[in-house]
Amino acid sequence: MTGPLVFAHRGASVALPEHTLAAYLRAIEEGADGLECDVRLTRDGHLVCVHDRRLDRTSTGRGRVSAHTLAQLEALDFGSWHPGAPPAGPDEPADESRTRLLTLARLLDAAHAADRPVRLLIETKHPSRYGGAVERKLVALLQRYGLTEPRPDARVQVVVMSFALLAVRRIRELAPALPTVLLLETLPPWLRSGRLPIGIRIAGPGIALVRARPRLVPALRAAGHQVYVWTVNEPADLDLALAAGVDGIITDRPDLALARRA
Ligand code: G3P
Ligand code: CA
Repeated sequence: MTGPLVFAHRGASVALPEHTLAAYLRAIEEGADGLECDVRLTRDGHLVCVHDRRLDRTSTGRGRVSAHTLAQLEALDFGSWHPGAPPAGPDEPADESRTRLLTLARLLDAAHAADRPVRLLIETKHPSRYGGAVERKLVALLQRYGLTEPRPDARVQVVVMSFALLAVRRIRELAPALPTVLLLETLPPWLRSGRLPIGIRIAGPGIALVRARPRLVPALRAAGHQVYVWTVNEPADLDLALAAGVDGIITDRPDLALARRA
């Protein structure tokens, strides 16, 4: 392969409901190099793959994810809102891979079960009422899967990301060998040199920032960093990211990004 890694953002999330097992399996089938997911903690301390703080947009539930137990979330439908997951007909069995809440543990199992190595980009969402417990639980789970000491021959390679510098620093303290991404929506004044805080290997600017600051990607790469850009869905933006020489493209449309990279 030449060109940047292609990461499926919340799975193949244009085609199928975001953060469902079906969306991730589709992305693997389409050939994505990796999968992106957001994680939040439930009231009883389980890591679940949900982007929003609240349940309202992507499920039949209401209120904060963090106020619910895993059992309560398991009872909700996380897929029927999406046009790619029509309700099953009266005689059809429901396809729960398109509607069931995905725990991070189930996503890790799916990545391990793939017929080829898969990368996983895990974003911890903040602010969270559980603060640093999100990173502590994440590292504990990754330790159980033997994923905190990356090996080049491993079937699953994990990178942890956050917009919160504190969260990225916690990961570095808890699991120094795990690569991390600092996500960037705007340009912090201290980044003008292109150098990220010590220990952070990868910069994660949004595509709008890359578009607005053409010198940013070269400066980051000159400082020795890799650059993963999000969320790149439009053909012109995919071409911009490819031309800028980024190392990773995070996209809702992995099929399109792979075709453009080819
Ligand atoms: O991959 C980074 C990107 O996912 C950050 O934005 O809001 O989609 O989590 P968001
Ligand atoms: Ca994300």
